Amino acid sequence: MATTTLFSKPPRTPLVGASILAADFAMMGPEARSAIESGADFLHFDVMDGHFVPNLTMGPDMCRALHRQLPDALIDVHLMVTDPGLFAEPFAAAGAGHVTFHIETVQDAVALAATIHELDMTVGIAINPPTDVSRVMAVLDAVDLVLIMSIDPGFSGQAFMPEVLDTVRTVSAALRPDQRLAIDGGVNRATAPACLAAGCDVLLAATAIYGSDDYAEAITALRTAGPIVSPSQ
Ligand code: DX5
Ligand code: ZN
Repeated sequence: MATTTLFSKPPRTPLVGASILAADFAMMGPEARSAIESGADFLHFDVMDGHFVPNLTMGPDMCRALHRQLPDALIDVHLMVTDPGLFAEPFAAAGAGHVTFHIETVQDAVALAATIHELDMTVGIAINPPTDVSRVMAVLDAVDLVLIMSIDPGFSGQAFMPEVLDTVRTVSAALRPDQRLAIDGGVNRATAPACLAAGCDVLLAATAIYGSDDYAEAITALRTAGPIVSPSQ
């Protein structure tokens, strides 16, 4: 299966993405491999610029290195940067299969989504907790995935904000069957059931996986927090 079809044609849902932000940065190759071998559907790669969010993380060179180590794993790049248009091409060249950027950062989300598609990647639009959902609703047709932030972006290990579930329900009701709805921040075995019940079909988790002693058990606990749906059912 081509990696670019994972979100538009998932083999099953919910999909579980391992956010490597909570991995041991000195062991990133083995940590990424371990998440995939433990059942994660893809790697979630958090890019921060110290401007849109108050932290710095990783860039295209790290993506390229992970892609070399794990060429079959989808790398889902979450751009938390002020100017996401600068980074679509560098991440495509570095082996990313998907790029999500924030609605708060762009004037023309439809144009950037088209650029990312032209680079043969799937595309997502992310929304922060305080942002009006109407901004995402206006561009839904242009994207493969919507990512609802359930924390203020910048750091892993924060508490889930249940008030964003209203946003999840609003977006979920408007999506096509081939579009995915992801949630990111504070997702764990206690909060995942409410996310799935509200309509999410992609769970992104850092601490719930990398903070666990048993990645496979942690990933299974997330995936089975709600009904598993396969396309044949
Ligand atoms: C935060 C990142 C999240 C983060 C989630 O800005 O976008 O992906 O890694 O971390 P946890 O799962 O620990 O809340
Ligand atoms: Zn993220």
